[in-house]
Amino acid sequence: MGVLMGRVALVTGSSRGIGSAIATEFAAEGAAVAVHGRDEAATAAVRDRIIAAGGRAVMVLGDVTSPEVVDRISTEIGSALGPLDVLVANAGGNPTRPGPLERMSLDEWRAAVDANLTATFVTIAAILPGMKQRGRGSIVTLSSAASRRPTPQSPVAYAAAKAGIEVLTKWLAAEAGPSGVRVNCIAPETIMTERNEQMIPAEVQERLAQTHPLRRLGSPQDVARAAVYLASDQAEWVTGIILDIAGGAVLK
Ligand SMILES: NC(=O)c1ccc[n+]([C@@H]2O[C@H](COP(=O)([O-])OP(=O)(O)OC[C@H]3O[C@@H](n4cnc5c(N)ncnc54)[C@H](OP(=O)(O)O)[C@@H]3O)[C@@H](O)[C@H]2O)c1
Repeated sequence: MGVLMGRVALVTGSSRGIGSAIATEFAAEGAAVAVHGRDEAATAAVRDRIIAAGGRAVMVLGDVTSPEVVDRISTEIGSALGPLDVLVANAGGNPTRPGPLERMSLDEWRAAVDANLTATFVTIAAILPGMKQRGRGSIVTLSSAASRRPTPQSPVAYAAAKAGIEVLTKWLAAEAGPSGVRVNCIAPETIMTERNEQMIPAEVQERLAQTHPLRRLGSPQDVARAAVYLASDQAEWVTGIILDIAGGAVLK
């Protein structure tokens, strides 16, 4: 019996990277999982892998910055799997480059805020009312070490958007707790997703690893295991926390 047996979960942005690992780990723990992305082929591949491993999964597609799209996704999941018990608002990413504030265009700023803070707000706004009505639910949001420990190497718009997600998480924990809904946040340091494996040269990976007390970079599974804990009843008295999955690189 897995710790998520009988639960229905949506993991946004699970067509690849961290989200894919979370969806896979949730299914292994017994959850029925809605795998989500915009890239249909990549999303279907994750769904098919979960089913091939004996798990239960469906695919939902679309841009989560659009309230209409998230409403449609929520309805599709309700018909296919039943009401959602768990939401991981993972979709996001960093569309900007590091550099001084005055070199950032308004379009770049808006892109980072939309891709992260707005997407998280829109997703939770569509899913939370059903959870409150049923008197139970667990929501996990995704921040980043970029906002936990701001440095000139992290783009300010991304860091600010992720800091906004942390405040949103705490605010919602207080607001939705009396309705039986827990809301927590995971803040990863550098995680070696497929994308980061390709983008970060090996010597830079090695140098970055040495800045972590645990002397390695993170894996998507490191984040997935934290998400399983926060989503499950093992964390039934935990809400409003920011959990640094950072190999000790963020100490506060
Ligand atoms: N990797 C890291 O080192 C790291 C560190 C700290 C925080 N994080 C955070 O962790 C989360 C996952 O990151 P990752 O590295 O796994 O990213 P990734 O490999 O780039 O994957 C991003 C996922 O989000 C989806 N997505 C992005 N924007 C979307 C939108 N507007 N609508 C629908 N889907 C959208 C993508 O869908 P499609 O590809 O199908 O379009 C994809 O499934 C992000 O919130 C990121 O900021 C990552």
